[in-house]
Amino acid sequence: MQTIRQLEALREQLQGFRAAGERIALVPTMGALHAGHLALVDAARRQAKRVVVSIFVNPKQFGPNEDFGRYPRHEQRDSRMLSEAGVDLLWMPPVEVMYPEGFATNIAVSGVSEGLDGAHRPGHFDGVATVVTKLFNQVQPDAALFGEKDFQQLAVIRRLVADLDLPVEIVSVPTQREDDGLAMSSRNGYLVEEDRKTATVLPRALGVAERAIAGGGDAEVALAQARETLTAAGFEVDYVALVDAETLGEPSPDRPRRLLAAATLHGTRLIDNVPVNGDG
Ligand code: PAF
Repeated sequence: MQTIRQLEALREQLQGFRAAGERIALVPTMGALHAGHLALVDAARRQAKRVVVSIFVNPKQFGPNEDFGRYPRHEQRDSRMLSEAGVDLLWMPPVEVMYPEGFATNIAVSGVSEGLDGAHRPGHFDGVATVVTKLFNQVQPDAALFGEKDFQQLAVIRRLVADLDLPVEIVSVPTQREDDGLAMSSRNGYLVEEDRKTATVLPRALGVAERAIAGGGDAEVALAQARETLTAAGFEVDYVALVDAETLGEPSPDRPRRLLAAATLHGTRLIDNVPVNGDG
């Protein structure tokens, strides 16, 4: 696996792949890799002959009081994992390559990025949309892989790609979970032992609400119960919401719906989501 940090070298290497007629898949990440990322790499290998992974901890998607400074950075370990997973190229631009002096462009996707996490993390999805657009322009992949764990991010990226006619196929991969149901996340490492156990209340509360809603129960009651369960376990709840799985707007039982939640446990913000079974 080649590790590249400069744009010219990246373009040169990718040119070689393209000249050989090889399809390229991109897995954008912020590093601190886990089995969830490896599932994206696996899916990428089924999509294309060449797999490029990017690692860039994007300052533009963190709010001023968020965890940019302490976000886990494990360059060597990540690099070893990707090499063992058969990745062809690791794109790891320094911040001055991604955002050179004078950088002044912001990509904002309205609608899908406005509620839920968008409401609780102002500017977050602008940061994501801006860096993902840059990554797509830098790598020009045929396909790009994203996890369903960041369900709103996925919807924002699908909207961005459709609106800007970006020639890349967006492929989503189901959330990978630990044995006890907790969604894999680079941020799970922040949880102390006791909180790591409590964190499983989040997927369980979503599961209970999902079964109630899929079984025809009152959605508002199910959502309120999930919020109560989380609060009682010590979470500060940002939202537990039922939305249309595509627009993230008002849900309707004759279209796919998604149940999403975000809550903070002693300083660690966790998100999760599940489809409502039997919808659509
Ligand atoms: O999901 C992530 O890790 C990040 O939001 C992404 C898509 C790599 C953009 O920085």
